[in-house]
Amino acid sequence: MEIVTDRLLLDLPVRGDVDLVTRYCQDPFFEEYLTTPWPYSRSDGEGFLGVHVPAGWASGSEFTWALRTVRGGPLLGVISVRETQHEIGFWMGAEHRGAGLMGEAASAVCEWVLAGGIDGATTVFWRAVEGNVGSAKVARAAGFRHIRPENPTVPTRDGVGTLPAWYGVREAVIDPRAEASWDPVLGPRA
Ligand SMILES: CC(C)(COP(=O)(O)OP(=O)(O)OC[C@H]1O[C@@H](n2cnc3c(N)ncnc32)[C@H](O)[C@@H]1OP(=O)(O)O)[C@@H](O)C(=O)NCCC(=O)NCCS
Repeated sequence: MEIVTDRLLLDLPVRGDVDLVTRYCQDPFFEEYLTTPWPYSRSDGEGFLGVHVPAGWASGSEFTWALRTVRGGPLLGVISVRETQHEIGFWMGAEHRGAGLMGEAASAVCEWVLAGGIDGATTVFWRAVEGNVGSAKVARAAGFRHIRPENPTVPTRDGVGTLPAWYGVREAVIDPRAEASWDPVLGPRA
């Protein structure tokens, strides 16, 4: 299940990552944009690493990787893909952002999914709370095409309500219109 990119090794997040996961997940962006527990405690991190991640791999319901630069090195961020809709999700520890690493990881995970990592998958789906520019730029960098179904939403943290969202889709062959499809929300790439 390991994936190697130019600068990253994607491998299994393990119990030993709990201190970093707990620290990264205190980030106010996570409260705004993710459905990770808030406030986030060490036992949330233990449950994520000790139960959620291995159960997802065992059942095939969600595949989750740690981003590291070297084997056995510190976890920088996390990326996952769910069996349902082949939906990708990710977060990066604050001090590691802005180096293009998540775009690199997302691209590699999409290629893994579409090359047979998930049997029969022909698309990868991405969505984010409307206004999450960082996440949308990662999606653009990873070859997603912005799509506009009627009333796109994401569930709220409590699962009861919804928030307006941006949606994107990535195919095995990147659509030549993919990059420009983001212009209405992100503007042309600088
Ligand atoms: C979204 C997130 C993972 C981006 O991580 P990152 O490592 O900075 O991403 P990258 O360095 O690969 O950046 C990819 C692009 O996004 C841009 N970007 C990253 N964060 C940004 C931000 N907060 N605002 C604007 N642009 C941002 C980068 O400049 C880069 O742009 P480019 O493609 O034009 O060069 C990170 O900001 C994060 O963890 N956010 C909180 C959690 C979250 O929102 N997750 C996604 C939920 S859908």
